[in-house]
Amino acid sequence: MIESIFILGRQPALGIAELESLYGSDGLRVVSDSIVQLAKDPSEIVFGRLGGSIKHAKLLTILPTTSWPELIRYITRSLPEHLKYIPEGKVKCGLSVYDLSVKVDQINKAGLEIKRVIKKTGRSVRVVPNKELALNSAQVLHNSLTGPLGLELLLIRDGQKTILAQTVAGQNIEAYARRDQARPKRDARVGMLPPKLAQTIINLARPDLVGTILDPFCGTGVVLQEALLMGFSTYGSDIDQRMVEFTRENVVTWLLNDDDTGRVQLEHGDATAHVWETPFDAIATETYLGQPFSAPPSPDKLHEVTQTCNTITKKFLRNLAKQTSPGFRLCLAVPAWKTVRGFTHLPTLEKLAELGYNRVSFVHVSDHDLLYYRPDQIVARELVTLIRK
Ligand SMILES: C[S@@+](CC[C@H](N)C(=O)[O-])C[C@H]1O[C@@H](n2cnc3c(N)ncnc32)[C@H](O)[C@@H]1O
Repeated sequence: MIESIFILGRQPALGIAELESLYGSDGLRVVSDSIVQLAKDPSEIVFGRLGGSIKHAKLLTILPTTSWPELIRYITRSLPEHLKYIPEGKVKCGLSVYDLSVKVDQINKAGLEIKRVIKKTGRSVRVVPNKELALNSAQVLHNSLTGPLGLELLLIRDGQKTILAQTVAGQNIEAYARRDQARPKRDARVGMLPPKLAQTIINLARPDLVGTILDPFCGTGVVLQEALLMGFSTYGSDIDQRMVEFTRENVVTWLLNDDDTGRVQLEHGDATAHVWETPFDAIATETYLGQPFSAPPSPDKLHEVTQTCNTITKKFLRNLAKQTSPGFRLCLAVPAWKTVRGFTHLPTLEKLAELGYNRVSFVHVSDHDLLYYRPDQIVARELVTLIRK
């Protein structure tokens, strides 16, 4: 079997948890901070639904060296054979290096050498120049490096060895930007959940990939949008009727173009008391995050907002426990606040058992690493995966 390699996104722990949720922990190995090896054939992975990985590659070989000249010698020697499998036309080639001690100049020099070798076989070629050690998602996309004529080789240090892999899929940053920015109804006050993070939340909530996803804090509908694109049926509710209408416009009118509307059920409801009458199989949601902060809040303010968010989350979980059976799985993005002394977490996360839930822990990442935030953000999202006891 050919194995898969994943280059993880900005918050690698989320990408690892997502892969572990979908494919289990046994065949998964964390190669370094940002790289995972998975004993799964690349053809079995639907990369577009992963929010936490930026590249997916097939493992070609593991070389018993980390010496740059030796690695490049191996590549240039094996390239002519490899090229036989690439159809006629101008080959587009790129090199990305992870965790090896090498400089950008050396990579670009190796690129020229690769170009020379390919030209010698009688083929025309463009080698994408490196600005950094690894090509970014835009370079992979715009140079069609995962297309039939593309060849992006990844060189990844693995202890005293080097993994050589070929990218088979890269994150489609343009599609994500469209899904994020082109929706007709957006609302900065309820926060802008990035579609990638919504995908990760869904993958943590529903590894079996079928059924109906409920979002009881649906806001403008990002989670439901991503769930629909992944093939789920969806069910949303929100305490604010305006948000329910925003979701309807974004999801039913804009995304689905008023087709296939049977896959969306929306209603007004307070998640702390609402009874969801339509059956659902999992919950993926971002709960109420409280107000956004551009500067650290005073201790009193932080206490107030923590209490407000905590009460809503706790009452929601208590309400949900009455309406679900043991084994029911959900993933919540809840707020955590960055302070000088580390993160302040929702107190109710310490009392989940009393509410009727067990927190799902992952083998390869710790619960505390499952935080999503940009460096300048005070309010982070903490991903909490739960199973009803
Ligand atoms: C952070 S937003 C969720 C954003 C949403 N995940 C999205 O994809 O756009 C939180 C939402 O929770 C809603 N909300 C707050 N308290 C609620 C409650 N008790 N029950 C249901 N919805 C509530 C707000 O109206 C807001 O739309």
